[in-house]
Amino acid sequence: MNMKIYILLGPPGAGKGTVAKYLVKSLKASYIATGDLFREAVANKTLLGKKVKEYMDKGVLVPDSLVNALVDEKIYELKLKNAPFLILDGFPRNIEQAITLEEILAKLDLAIEKVIYFDIPSKKIIERLSNRRVCKKCGAIFNLVSMKPKIDGVCDNCGGELFQRDDDKEEVIMKRLKVYEAQTKELVELYKSKGILYTIDASKKVSAVNSQVKKLILKNKNH
Ligand code: AP5
Repeated sequence: MNMKIYILLGPPGAGKGTVAKYLVKSLKASYIATGDLFREAVANKTLLGKKVKEYMDKGVLVPDSLVNALVDEKIYELKLKNAPFLILDGFPRNIEQAITLEEILAKLDLAIEKVIYFDIPSKKIIERLSNRRVCKKCGAIFNLVSMKPKIDGVCDNCGGELFQRDDDKEEVIMKRLKVYEAQTKELVELYKSKGILYTIDASKKVSAVNSQVKKLILKNKNH
C-alpha cells in the first residue's frame, strides 16, 4: 500500500503539533514538522541551525531552498520505510512550497490524500501561544491554561524541563500571524479548488480536535 499523505494546515498555535503528536501515538503515523526539525538544528548548532535561526527569531519564513531540500530528503526516507500514513505539519507554507511538494510526491509516485484545515479565531491563537510550554527533552507540548503539566516546569512524559519558545513572545507571535495571512492562508483556496480540503473546528477541546482529525484520516476519501 502506498503511503497516504495528510497535510495539517492552519495558523500558528491552531494546535497542529498537538494533534500530530496524538496521531503518531494512536495511528503510528510518521510525522514531518519543519518547525521541529529547524528547532532541533538550532539547538544542536548545526550549519542548518545557524542559517535558519535569524528567520525563526523574527517570525518570518525560512528561505524555500532550505525547507524544500530537507522535506524532499525526509519524505524519501519515509517512503523507503513503507510508512502507512505521513503527517506534514508546517509544510507547505506558501504556493512555491506547495508546487515543490507536488513535484517531490510525483517523483515518488505519491499523492496528497487530504489537507486538514484548522479553523480558529486569532484571539484564541494569541492566548494559546503565549501560554505554550514545550519539553526540552521529548518535545511534548503543554499549555499553562488548557494543558497544564502536573508539576510546574516539568514534563509529565519524561521529566524534562519545560521552556517557552523564543518565537512565542507577543511581538513575534503578531509577526507570525501576519506572515500566515500574507503567505500561507492562500493555500486554503488552492487545496479547496483541488477538492482535497477538509475543515475542522480547531477551537474545540484537545480531545474533540484529535477525534475530528483522526476520523478524517480513517475515513475513506470517497465515502
Ligand atoms: P512552526 O514550528 O511550524 O510553528 P507554527 O506553524 O507557527 O505552529 P506552532 O508550532 O506555533 O503551532 P501549532 O499549530 O503546532 O500549535 P500547538 O499544537 O503547539 O514554525 C516555526 C518557525 O519555523 C516559522 O515561523 C518559520 O520561521 C520556520 N518554518 C517552519 N516551517 C517552515 C516552512 N515550511 N517554510 C518556511 N519556514 C518555516 O498548540 C499551541 C498551544 O495551544 C499549546 O500550548 C497547546 O498545548 C495548546 N493547544 C493545542 N490544541 C489546543 C486545544 N484544542 N485547546 C486548547 N489548547 C490547545
